[in-house]
Amino acid sequence: MLPPQPELNKAQLCLNLNGQCGPKDFPQLLNDTFLRAARGEETEHVPVWCMRQAGRYLPEFRESRAGRDFFETCRSPEACCELTLQPLRRFPFDAAIIFSDILVIPQALGMDVQMVQGKGPTFPEPLKEPEDLQRLQAKVDVEKELGYVFRAITLTRHKIEGKVPLIGFTGAPWTLMSYMIEGGGSNTHSKAKRWLYRHPEASHMLLKMLTDVIVEYLLGQVAAGAQALQVFESHAGILGPVEFKEFSLPYLRDIARRVKDKLKEAGQDVPMIVFAKDAHYGLEDLSQSYYEVVGLDWTIDPRSARERTGGKVSLQGNMDPCALYSPKERISDIVKKMVEGFGTRGYIANLGHGLYPDMDPENVGAFVEAVHQHSKQMNKRS
Ligand code: CP3
Repeated sequence: MLPPQPELNKAQLCLNLNGQCGPKDFPQLLNDTFLRAARGEETEHVPVWCMRQAGRYLPEFRESRAGRDFFETCRSPEACCELTLQPLRRFPFDAAIIFSDILVIPQALGMDVQMVQGKGPTFPEPLKEPEDLQRLQAKVDVEKELGYVFRAITLTRHKIEGKVPLIGFTGAPWTLMSYMIEGGGSNTHSKAKRWLYRHPEASHMLLKMLTDVIVEYLLGQVAAGAQALQVFESHAGILGPVEFKEFSLPYLRDIARRVKDKLKEAGQDVPMIVFAKDAHYGLEDLSQSYYEVVGLDWTIDPRSARERTGGKVSLQGNMDPCALYSPKERISDIVKKMVEGFGTRGYIANLGHGLYPDMDPENVGAFVEAVHQHSKQMNKRS
């Protein structure tokens, strides 16, 4: 007689295409190089993907997005799936990142966010004073408000046919808080930082609210099929080391710890990446924050990043995106130095930030090829 089957845990289930719960029946993963590198295991070549690989530098992306509101696109699982897959049709990337945006969370909390052409994300009514926190939803129904992202992930996991793993993501609490107060992009972030200095308690209250939603959101993404998670603390560099330790790091840690604990209960584990842009001072702390991978911007030297993180984590990054304006041979040389600096083990090649709209897709292809080629050669020699 067969032993009794363990009951399937909720986290091992996923939403299938008609929105019902069913066991995962995703196509088998054919290239796990990215996942193995994230865990520090040996790989035949260094895996590579690019932040904003689904973006305006691709003519097919511009065509698909044409005439459609940005957040309306984000709410269409079919559109998100198509945009996520576009770069994979051109380049042999080793991972895909779901097309979405970090600002879907402030929307889920009840804030209006619009993508204004030529200006970027805009909040018509940003938070001004601590009393404004009352305008936010006290308890967010994550499935109801963000289920469209989960459906996009599930659909994409099917359509990607196991070619590469699919990365889910979120903005980190401080970065989201700064958008919610600034109301859009800013050079100084002085409105948001004013809160940290003038209203530290309300700031912590907001950061905690965001953390709670983010934890549920990331768990929902994994249940829907995300195979890795990246947390974007894009505005870390606007903080100094003291403020980073008080207003960013504890929440980044809390997110990883809570997500990992919950997944463990369900017998699951997905690698998590933290990308705290320009937070040089926080590198040691970030490498001891429960994330398997620390993402780096281009201002950090690969060798010193390895030394400072003491081999405790895998590293991801960090070519200056502007190096893609170089001629192709030069890109190959820059990539070679970068891969030599990081070493081929426990390393995921990427840019130090996202691709820009005026970049030549051919040079992105040259970047991907150079990573594969140089790392294969280095592995052969060792
Ligand atoms: O390919 C991928 O990387 C996945 C998709 C993705 C987008 N945004 C799509 C997008 C991801 C991971 C993000 C994250 C995001 N969004 C961040 C964190 C990463 C970072 O850049 O530091 C931030 C800060 C945002 C907020 C945001 N959304 C900005 C600043 C902009 C640019 C506005 C502009 O006009 O350039 C966006 C819009 C956005 N998000 C685009 C894309 C492809 C471009 C606009 C469009 O397609 O119309």
